[in-house]
Amino acid sequence: MAPGAKPDRVAGENRLVVAIDGPAASGKSSTAHRVAMRAGLYHVDSGALYRAATAAELRVQPDVSRWTEAGLLTAVGVVGLEARATGFRPTISGGDIEAEIRGAGVTRHVSLVAQMPGIRAWVNEQIRALARRYDIVVDGRDIGTVVFPDAALKVFLVADPWERARRRLSERFERQPTEAEIAEETGRLVQRDARDATQTVQAKDAILIDTTALTQEEQVSRIVALVDAARGRELDRGSAGGG
Ligand code: DC
Repeated sequence: MAPGAKPDRVAGENRLVVAIDGPAASGKSSTAHRVAMRAGLYHVDSGALYRAATAAELRVQPDVSRWTEAGLLTAVGVVGLEARATGFRPTISGGDIEAEIRGAGVTRHVSLVAQMPGIRAWVNEQIRALARRYDIVVDGRDIGTVVFPDAALKVFLVADPWERARRRLSERFERQPTEAEIAEETGRLVQRDARDATQTVQAKDAILIDTTALTQEEQVSRIVALVDAARGRELDRGSAGGG
């Protein structure tokens, strides 16, 4: 279904926001994507916006030691958001950047960019602008705490670091990784968790789901059921307020 097929919201009308937060490789993005498809929401990957900002700056200034927040804020002028069937993807000058933002260069430097308050404000404004028009499921680190503290549903996904590393490598290699490979990736993940710890916060009213022992289908089903329940609550609130 094309985004245009789902009705835009009228200004001032309530729209549904589902926040999915959690650490790196907790399966947030793929889960959020599937939840969007099943529940008829648009998926927005906030990490992809931090990655797009990083990619835009890498294009104009490959020397990372010369990066400044002001430079980054200029560079993001070329970043846009393109509507896809199930959500929005960042672009640079209208071009597809999916492979570029998942590459090693962007991954190495994105934590630095994500610590710049001006860039955080820019990302948050992009997402809030979408939420004024669409029912969305957003995945990230601080969506339920900072970006949408009033989200109708907040989920915080966690999984054992070893299992997160195993899943990530199985996807990347398309084979079962060895224990040595998993051990090395676990070390990298834990270091990344430490770098992103400041902004990775579980909201007090978030529902914690530990996916270590769940299949992706199980976690998606749980969240879709939670979305249905949240929609029911929003409808009740709307009719109570209206009548
Ligand atoms: O989820 P990811 O690996 O694509 O995130 C990329 C980087 O952006 C990572 O350093 C965490 C950061 N991030 C953040 O600080 N806040 C968000 N809401 C999403 C991502």
